[in-house]
Amino acid sequence: MSDARKIVESGYDGSAERYLEWSARIADDPRLRFLSELTDRLDDGSDVLDLGCGAGVPCTKLLAERHDVLGVDLSAAQLDLARRNVPDARFEKADMAAVSFPDGGFDAVTAFYSVLHVPREEQGALFTRIARWLRPGGWFLAALGCSEMNGVEDDWLGTPMFFSSHSTAENRRLLEAAGFTLVVDEPVTMHEPDPATFHWVLGRR
Ligand SMILES: C[S@@+](CC[C@H](N)C(=O)[O-])C[C@H]1O[C@@H](n2cnc3c(N)ncnc32)[C@H](O)[C@@H]1O
Repeated sequence: MSDARKIVESGYDGSAERYLEWSARIADDPRLRFLSELTDRLDDGSDVLDLGCGAGVPCTKLLAERHDVLGVDLSAAQLDLARRNVPDARFEKADMAAVSFPDGGFDAVTAFYSVLHVPREEQGALFTRIARWLRPGGWFLAALGCSEMNGVEDDWLGTPMFFSSHSTAENRRLLEAAGFTLVVDEPVTMHEPDPATFHWVLGRR
């Protein structure tokens, strides 16, 4: 396993509860608005893959109310919380950049604030694999980084953490090259409480 993966995995293993409390305090997080953009387009009982599902709340849980959800995460501690929080979903411990699924097995793939922990030189290939996992017409919803970051922050919620991202223009180029048509393409700043901007994308295969 690469150093970046080890830092991310042990970082979330050590900070899973802390991350959940901290993220729940972000008052202007637009996750639920963008989640609705996706769920408004999905039939009940759709197959949904949530990459980097974390503790499963709020998004995996809301998805699992109407859909058949598989959550994937690198961190065992996050998955322990997710299994408790979302008993109706299935979970698998895996690296989203290495795991494989059959072609055309999902109606939607989601990734809320998680692709930004995958080294950016691997993100284009990940988007191509996500496109393959989707049925034709399937959806990919993600909050990507957009700050040209690529390295380790020494103290993020009390632990070292690896972040990696491209510009919005490069995110767009990679998604379109993977075969997605973007129907949402919106950088949004929220306050953690410091301002942090993420590139929200909803792409159709
Ligand atoms: C910022 S948290 C977001 C969690 C959740 N999606 C949310 O919105 O609260 C990022 C999550 O992605 C997971 N993650 C990071 N890199 C991953 C990878 N390569 N494969 C699978 N999960 C990963 C982390 O373990 C962590 O749980």
